[in-house]
Amino acid sequence: MTAPVFQIRESTSGDLETIMDVETRSFGYDKEARLVADLLADPTASPAVSLLAFAEEEPVGHILFTRARLDGLNDRPMIHILAPLAVAPEYQRQGVGGQLIDAGIRKLKALGSHLVFVLGHKEYYPKHGFRPDAGARGYPPPYPIPDDVADYWMVQPVSDRGFGVGQGKVHCCDELNKPQHWRDDEADH
Ligand SMILES: CC(C)(COP(=O)(O)OP(=O)(O)OC[C@H]1O[C@@H](n2cnc3c(N)ncnc32)[C@H](O)[C@@H]1OP(=O)(O)O)[C@@H](O)C(=O)NCCC(=O)NCCS
Repeated sequence: MTAPVFQIRESTSGDLETIMDVETRSFGYDKEARLVADLLADPTASPAVSLLAFAEEEPVGHILFTRARLDGLNDRPMIHILAPLAVAPEYQRQGVGGQLIDAGIRKLKALGSHLVFVLGHKEYYPKHGFRPDAGARGYPPPYPIPDDVADYWMVQPVSDRGFGVGQGKVHCCDELNKPQHWRDDEADH
């Protein structure tokens, strides 16, 4: 059976309440919703890619990619991190998340980004091109991740140069680079 198609579009400044509602419903608490609000207001996160998914008129998913940097390489190359991805419970396992990831990566390519990172489910993100253990490839996360979950820190190249842009520790935008977002209990999201 083919996956249902959801409508996906970039969010606008008028969508904040909708985004926070989708994030809160998906996670079951509002921590990620508040993080998204902070990230969307963070100038160091720009250019960001923020996409909403709809089933008919109903908002059912949201994904956010924010700008990051590689330590030691000044302001270039442009790289991004995916955080968070949220799909409303009643629409999970129907392809919304995958369609949001794929659409977001197309936007990152158009922006000229080279690499995209994620800290998340190691069974899920490799289905969409992410490769486990970005740290072993020369891209340590902003804060150390325990060895037993090193696989959860993943990367995928999104330009022809990809891994050729250089290596370095990933430095996220100001709001995401705070240590509370990288503690142990964050590794399994
Ligand atoms: C994780 C999440 C984003 C996946 O989105 P989705 O639209 O449900 O996933 P898709 O339909 O694209 O893909 C489904 C496949 O992904 C895998 N998958 C989905 N959720 C998963 C999870 N929590 N852990 C591991 N694998 C998962 C499964 O293999 C599933 O295939 P199956 O139906 O054959 O079992 C969504 O479940 C969600 O929002 N969960 C709550 C919030 C969260 O954990 N967000 C991610 C942190 S950034």
